[in-house]
Amino acid sequence: MVADVETEVLIVGSGPAGGAAALLLSTYGVRNLVVTKYGRLSDTPRAHITNQRTMEVLRDAGIEDQVIAQATPQHLMGDTVFCSSLAGEELGRLHTWYTHPSRRADHDLASPSSICDMPQHLMEPVLVENAIARGTSFRYETEYLSLEQDADGVTATVRDRLRGDEYRIRAKYLIGADGGRSKVAEDIGLPMVGKMGVAGSINIVFEADLTEYTAYRPSTLYWVLQTGSDVGGIGMGLVRCVRPWHEWLIVWGYDIDGEPPDLTEAYARRIAHHLIGDESVPVTIKSSSAWTVNHMYAETYQKGRVFCAGDAVHRHPPSNGLGSNTSIQDAYNLAWKLAMVLRGEAGPGLLETYSAERAPVGRQIVDRANRSIGETTRIFEALGLLSTGDPDQLRANMAARKLPTPEAEKQRQALREAIAFKDYEFNTHGVELNQRYASSAVLADGTPMPANPRDDELYHHATTWPGAKLPHAWVGRDRTRLSTLDLGGQGRFTLVTGIGGESWRAAAEGLPVTVVSIGPGADYEDLYGDWARLREIGDAGCLLVRPDNHVCFRSEGVPADPGAVLRDALRRVLSR
Ligand code: FDA
Repeated sequence: MVADVETEVLIVGSGPAGGAAALLLSTYGVRNLVVTKYGRLSDTPRAHITNQRTMEVLRDAGIEDQVIAQATPQHLMGDTVFCSSLAGEELGRLHTWYTHPSRRADHDLASPSSICDMPQHLMEPVLVENAIARGTSFRYETEYLSLEQDADGVTATVRDRLRGDEYRIRAKYLIGADGGRSKVAEDIGLPMVGKMGVAGSINIVFEADLTEYTAYRPSTLYWVLQTGSDVGGIGMGLVRCVRPWHEWLIVWGYDIDGEPPDLTEAYARRIAHHLIGDESVPVTIKSSSAWTVNHMYAETYQKGRVFCAGDAVHRHPPSNGLGSNTSIQDAYNLAWKLAMVLRGEAGPGLLETYSAERAPVGRQIVDRANRSIGETTRIFEALGLLSTGDPDQLRANMAARKLPTPEAEKQRQALREAIAFKDYEFNTHGVELNQRYASSAVLADGTPMPANPRDDELYHHATTWPGAKLPHAWVGRDRTRLSTLDLGGQGRFTLVTGIGGESWRAAAEGLPVTVVSIGPGADYEDLYGDWARLREIGDAGCLLVRPDNHVCFRSEGVPADPGAVLRDALRRVLSR
């Protein structure tokens, strides 16, 4: 079949997954073309929490500064408030996104990058514009229709929605980053587990100066408990800050088994005023849309030369803020593998490790995000909101917590515990950073996975155990301070060694591996001694780090023939 257009990788979709895939492939020098259905990028804020792992990806891609320049910083994100309305009674607060003093230390120790709030309508242009500047071809108003694949490549049929005609694009590989209703995933028959449409939610984007009600308790999220706020959706009414303190997004539930809501401006304004609790605040409604909470993941992400990434393979509610993060991280896992296979540096078997490594992560985050919604019920229970639907009784039950009675003391304790339990939605550092890959692109060293001494969902546990992300430590050179993560990445393998590891350097000669040594008088100084504490190998040992900064091989010391050991490790990791 003769195609009209040719490229190496065709990417369907320009959301966080497709945008990041294009950016990274272009950064690695791979020709790629993005087709996207509409004539614009995301026009609503949608995803926003951008966690440290994603910021590390963007740092490696050289665009972290551009994101920081537009994002709301961590110190304005974390006084998550539970209240009866913004102007109404405050029921409690939770330090979130690692703003609690003890969690701030965990956050700062784990990464050179900081969590931030980057709304999706600002993130997508950064990804896509940088991708285009580095070589990505980009086609708006182009709808993917179907694909066929053979031994050498994939031919996709697309429709130009402006002209109305169809044409074919030939690529060596195709990435389906076409979101939660992925046609690509459906066409290649990816096995999906779970359910779509578990609950109904409405997003309302609006402008209003809410400085008076928010700036003194700066946060990304203000949760509002009112009659009906436990129906459908994400479990409570939510007023989310898009831009402090005048752009907002409300999430409100609707009963998915009933009639879908009529999203008139008057309806949206009524909900906004309801949650603000002050009718006198001028509100400008920008848009409203309905969406559903989903609980679905794909068991595998690949069929032949076609891969899916992002919501195409993991569909879940926004709880825990994992949507766009996981999508960008999928792309980070896949892009270097495609680049190396296309350049002939790796065998096609390497591509199979994408699914093996990312599908377990997808499943974990879908389950985590859905569990977080269910756990919100504890707050309703503590306040006595589940036992009655009568608004007067509800108010009385909530007010009962102020009484000097033993029951009220129990209620106060239950509420404190229920709010604190939301740590599992807003402070899951382990979920964000403890992803450990098991596949043929990781060589086990015979040691068991080190147990996390703390809760593995809440706390990051740095380790160089093969499959884990390279731990972060500050190292120095020429009066500059870099992260160990800055030594890796950049689309290439890195061998990290130390004093006495010179034979590893000799062993790496002629191999596509950059060698760095850390220690006194070596390439980089271990400024605070943190690296020696974290590396779990001897001075002369080595870590082989993949382009996505995951450790794939380690050696405690120097073996008899380091050249043979390193060549064999690289050959196996690269499926050659
Ligand atoms: P995404 O859906 O972003 O992108 C899909 C892309 O594919 C789009 O560019 C689309 O135009 C394109 N496309 C689709 N079909 C195509 C076809 N046939 N041909 C060509 N192109 C096609 N998450 C979160 O963490 N916090 C939040 O608050 C929210 N809020 C939210 C609100 C709403 C209304 C939605 C729909 C989603 C959210 N999310 C969210 C989820 C979050 O936005 C989501 O996880 C990421 O956008 C996923 O990124 P992807 O790139 O995978 O898909």
